[in-house]
Amino acid sequence: MTCFDETPMTFDYARYLASKTTVDDRALNRHVLAELRRLMPAGAPQVLEVGAGLGTMVARLFDWGVVGAGEYTLLDADRELLDRSRRWLCDWAAARGVRSDLLPDGLQVGDVRVRLVHAELGRYLEAAHGAMAGVLIANAVLDLVDVPAVLPGLLRLLVPGGVYWLTINYDGESIFAPGHPHDDQVMRAYHRDMDERFRYGRPAGDSRTGRRLFQNLRAAGAPALAAGSSDWVVSAGPDGNYPGDEAYFLRSILSTIQNALRSSPDRVEPADLADWLAVRGRQLAAGELVYIAHQLDFAGRSPG
Ligand SMILES: C[S@@+](CC[C@H](N)C(=O)[O-])C[C@H]1O[C@@H](n2cnc3c(N)ncnc32)[C@H](O)[C@@H]1O
Repeated sequence: MTCFDETPMTFDYARYLASKTTVDDRALNRHVLAELRRLMPAGAPQVLEVGAGLGTMVARLFDWGVVGAGEYTLLDADRELLDRSRRWLCDWAAARGVRSDLLPDGLQVGDVRVRLVHAELGRYLEAAHGAMAGVLIANAVLDLVDVPAVLPGLLRLLVPGGVYWLTINYDGESIFAPGHPHDDQVMRAYHRDMDERFRYGRPAGDSRTGRRLFQNLRAAGAPALAAGSSDWVVSAGPDGNYPGDEAYFLRSILSTIQNALRSSPDRVEPADLADWLAVRGRQLAAGELVYIAHQLDFAGRSPG
């Protein structure tokens, strides 16, 4: 029996984002994080996180002592995810004994006021009026947008001297181990799908977002003050079990690749894709699958 067939795989995106939390915890570059800590405005900052999903980053920054007061805005195009973020953040706060209260436009978590904004980023930037954030965060999202088009507007949301922390930017390398004869073909086709993707009527992705951010940040007048790799590395422990819910994370990655490629039979033979997915599914079930994705993090200041 195989784990994958030709039916499009659906998965619970909110559960995928929650399962990604421990993977990101390990991956986020500590040198770049140290630079963020150094640059963070004192007191109660105004933080804007774009493509914030479930809100796992505000929880992480609270846990890591980076943000403990102020206003933290979660902006995302997916209203359902934002709705689910309320419950997820309340549960997270309750587990830590931190007081949380629901508010009409978000929630209060300890001394942090979390605002939820439902908006597509491109449209939000077109309608934006002036700088409003002291800190701008984008985690695992810039490889889903047209960075050269979006970045200047995003940086304009920062007050003078404001800080950006742009993390988990995919950079053109995914490794699945043990090796499989169709690996190169599958990953080439997957990267092409990323490069040609359109969402919300706009180009939406670049398989080499990470390395191109060096130049894109310079061109936007905000060269990085710190940069470093933030590779995802996922493997099972000695007992054959993946940490946390990371087996679900891996399953979601395989489903994402399947969904991206099933409509491109000219790039990967359907039988080859089915074989690749079946082998990867069996390796996952046996705790043998290792997954590595190369990514880059950046921190710096707003232009000027
Ligand atoms: C891979 S998820 C990352 C979510 C979150 N940052 C995290 O790391 O858990 C990407 C998120 O970006 C959002 N997104 C993608 N394109 C967007 C756009 N053009 N405008 C606003 N949000 C977008 C998606 O809805 C999704 O929640």
